[in-house]
Amino acid sequence: MLKDPGSASPTSAQSGIRIPLNKPFIAGNELSYIREAVERGQLAADGHFARRCHELLEASTGAARVLLTPSCTAALEMAAMLCDLGPADEVILPSYTFVSTASAIVREGATPIFVDIREDTLNLDETLIEAAITPRTRAIFPVHYAGVASEMDTICRIARENDLLVVEDAAQAVGSRYKGRGLGSIGDLAAFSFHETKNFICGEGGALCINDSRFVARAEIIRDKGTDRQRFFRGETDRYTWQELGSSYVASEICAAFLFAQLEEMESITERRAEIAAYYSEHLSGLEREGRLRLPCVPPDCETNAHLYHLLLPDEATRDGLMSHLRTHGILAVFHYVPLHDSPMGTKLAGGRPARLPVTESVSRRLLRLPFYCQLEPLEQEEVVGRIRDFFER
Ligand SMILES: Cc1ncc(COP(=O)(O)O)c(C=O)c1O
Repeated sequence: MLKDPGSASPTSAQSGIRIPLNKPFIAGNELSYIREAVERGQLAADGHFARRCHELLEASTGAARVLLTPSCTAALEMAAMLCDLGPADEVILPSYTFVSTASAIVREGATPIFVDIREDTLNLDETLIEAAITPRTRAIFPVHYAGVASEMDTICRIARENDLLVVEDAAQAVGSRYKGRGLGSIGDLAAFSFHETKNFICGEGGALCINDSRFVARAEIIRDKGTDRQRFFRGETDRYTWQELGSSYVASEICAAFLFAQLEEMESITERRAEIAAYYSEHLSGLEREGRLRLPCVPPDCETNAHLYHLLLPDEATRDGLMSHLRTHGILAVFHYVPLHDSPMGTKLAGGRPARLPVTESVSRRLLRLPFYCQLEPLEQEEVVGRIRDFFER
């Protein structure tokens, strides 16, 4: 069951931070499962624990087929390869996301087309997608920010009508739902992250979800250095050979053993995170009513995994002021994505003239993430809320 693995990182201690943004959480059985993996004598990919992770993730998220990868970045790269993207192609995605959503597309020579986000969920604004479609568009990569679903019915309808593939970047959304369906199970393909900042972790890790069975055989090949080794392991061929360009997108059994201990506790971890989010919402709602800040929005159709908790301040100066006020008191609250469209690489991709995305630009200057991890003590959370209140009363 839920246990505290210890204190914050040495970096936090050295910088005077008492309440960090994140602390990796240890569910309890990680080390004994790693020991078991060692005793079983298979430490490379797709051993006993990897198979159990695959089955558990398929059952809990509803994704048709799940394959562990070394990271969500790797899973997104595999997805872009499976979409057969090339230099003639464009892909629609939000700019308010982690670099990996876009770099997977650019690695294949395709062009990312950044579209603005919604004011409420901070996800891809589905009402702007159709205007961004051209004869070159091949896919849409929605991102489920903070574990809250993008408007998947509309996105999938637009994709169907325009013969586009949908790849969900569900890095933050393992265990979240949209209209009762698990995120990661809705797009043709999807990617999960198990990085130490996520809800369920193994240090670095991820998974590719394959919901369209026509991608399974190629995914197995791309993931295993471009070979048909998986077919060989199943006895379907008498040797394995190089079939197409792939890479090493498999995950070590040691990571899988660690991850399985976490996935077994999905429910209790999610419950604990939901309590933390509910506390913040309850105790900060007064400031929202006074118009001082905005709390996260979870539309009624969405069930969130409580991945992170963010505030939207009225302007950048207030956000930065609150961030440094909290830091002065040993509390680490931080901003999030720096928009990709006007990053140095985004600007270069746009030939020096990136589109303007007003909501993305405004949100990135006003958003602040609060400390959020299972071991956050009630007194610590009370202190975070108290310091936020002080800031507005000064
Ligand atoms: C939306 C999104 N996509 C992809 C990633 C990359 O995940 P990983 O670190 O597992 O490669 C992240 C990481 O935080 C993310 O937030």
